[in-house]
Order: sequence, then structure tokens, then C-alpha cells
Amino acid sequence: MQPAQISLPYFDALLEQLGRGEAEVEEAFGRHVHWGYWENPAQADSSVDDFAAAAERLCQRVYSVAHIKEGDRILDAGCGFGGTISSLNEHFNNIELIGLNIDPRQLVRARQEVQPHGSNQIKFVEGDACRIPFPDASFDVVLAVECIFHFPSRVEFFQEVRRILRPSGRLAICDFVPLPVFKLVGKFLEKFGSAYVGGTYGRVDSHFTLADYQKLAQESGFALTCQEDITLNTLPTYPIVRRLFERMGKSDSANVTASIELISRLRLLRYLILSFAVLPNS
Ligand SMILES: C[S@@+](CC[C@H](N)C(=O)[O-])C[C@H]1O[C@@H](n2cnc3c(N)ncnc32)[C@H](O)[C@@H]1O
Repeated sequence: MQPAQISLPYFDALLEQLGRGEAEVEEAFGRHVHWGYWENPAQADSSVDDFAAAAERLCQRVYSVAHIKEGDRILDAGCGFGGTISSLNEHFNNIELIGLNIDPRQLVRARQEVQPHGSNQIKFVEGDACRIPFPDASFDVVLAVECIFHFPSRVEFFQEVRRILRPSGRLAICDFVPLPVFKLVGKFLEKFGSAYVGGTYGRVDSHFTLADYQKLAQESGFALTCQEDITLNTLPTYPIVRRLFERMGKSDSANVTASIELISRLRLLRYLILSFAVLPNS
């Protein structure tokens, strides 16, 4: 199996556990590899089943703000194991779905797990979201579910998305977005922070504020059409991820996850769903 072109220690651990047939990991992360969404977080019950249902809800919330319709051609950038593509395939007809991922190991699993229903078409392609291997104006929708912080550059990603979207195109993402004050603190802690987080989650850039997104949208030909703060709705994710890391014998990773939980509970780091529409004449 070809190695990934970037270091993603959490995917190394997941693929190893999935290869061993670990049932809890399969249930929690065999389809989606992102946080969950609970309408009422007080009702989360800490079970893996409950988490899997919440992860499914999160991807549905992200693609709902992209207003997908029959006939759309959709790119899911950073598609993981194809969970979002699978969900779209189950809920829509006559759509063309392309999953893009830099890690060929994940694509092997996605191709095994996801088969097109009815008139839908599905393809999984290896590539970098900042160098999208498709022609200009060839998609209606681009999604990036909990992955933009790994990409080499948000600016290059937005430029690429603008290039491949048609004039009525939409982009929907979810991301960990800091308050400006946390961005400043983060600058001081950058060296320590990136080594600490990187040992578990690989390269992560969580210094891009909402104001940065607004500026980027304007500069790359998009209007920001929706912003939803779902931080509180995602919080029940953390105890589950910590518990799974502890079970794998990865206490360091559980501690890193606890630190992200703390700054999220303090609302210094928010979990946002954002959507963008191509600006006419841009
Ligand atoms: C947290 S996972 C999310 C996966 C998937 N979107 C989901 O929600 O299940 C982050 C994903 O981003 C992918 N990724 C990281 N850097 C990338 C890049 N430069 N281009 C394409 N995919 C990338 C990783 O391989 C991984 O699949």
C-alpha cells in the first residue's frame, strides 16, 4: 500500500485498528472521521453508537448549507473514508460525487466501502486539495468536512475551489476557528503547540479567524452565505475520542485531545460551519 504524502499519526492508528477488526473503532470512525453533532448535547449518552449517529448528523449539516440538488457535480475535498460521499449517495439521486484525498490508504477503504446507488456516479481520486486535478468550471459544489486545517494553504485552496466551481457554485466547510485573542496567544505558543498537537493529529493550522475567512472570501471571489457556531453541539465528542485513545494505549493523544476540549469549552476555539457562494462576475 502506498504511504500518505503527509504525516497523519491519527490515521496511522485508525488504519491499524481497522485492519485488526477493532469493533468500537470501526463503529466510531469506519465511515466518518470527524466530530459529532448533538442537537441537545445533554442527551449524548457516551456510547459509540450515539457518536456514530452524531458524526452522520454533522456531515449532513455541512452539506445542507451547500443546497445540493439533483444533477449537481460535487467534490468532497479531504474525503477521508468516503463517509460524506456515502451519506450524499444515500440521500440524493442523479448526482456525481468525487472524493479527493492526499492519502491513498484511505482511498483504498473508501472504494471498498462506497458503491453508487441508482443513477449516482462516484469516483475517488488521489490528490492535494491545493492542486485540484480537475478543469476550470467543472463542479457545482465543493465540500471540505473537518480537513481544511491540514491543507498546505487556505488561500490556495480557496483559489483552486473558485477555479473549478461554475458561476452558481457553492463551497461548504467546517473548521476549528479561534477567537482573535486566542490567535495571538497561539502565535506565542506556536512552536510548542504544533509539536504537541502534531504528534497526534499531524500538521494542523488553527489560527484562521472568522475575519480572516471573510477577507479570504472577498479576495477570492466568494460571498460568505452562512456561519453557524456549533461548538456546544460538538462537545460530547471529546470524552469518546479520549476514551478510544486511552484504549489504544495512546495517553499522549488523549491528553492532546483534552487540551483541545478545554480551549473549546472556554470558547477560545469555536467549531464553525461556513458556506460560500461564487460572486457574480468574480
Ligand atoms: C479529519 S479527516 C476528515 C475526513 C473526512 N472529510 C470526514 O469528515 O470523514 C481530514 C482529512 O483530510 C485529508 N487531507 C489532509 N491534507 C490534505 C490535502 N492537502 N489534500 C487532500 N486531502 C487532505 C486527510 O487525508 C483526511 O482524510
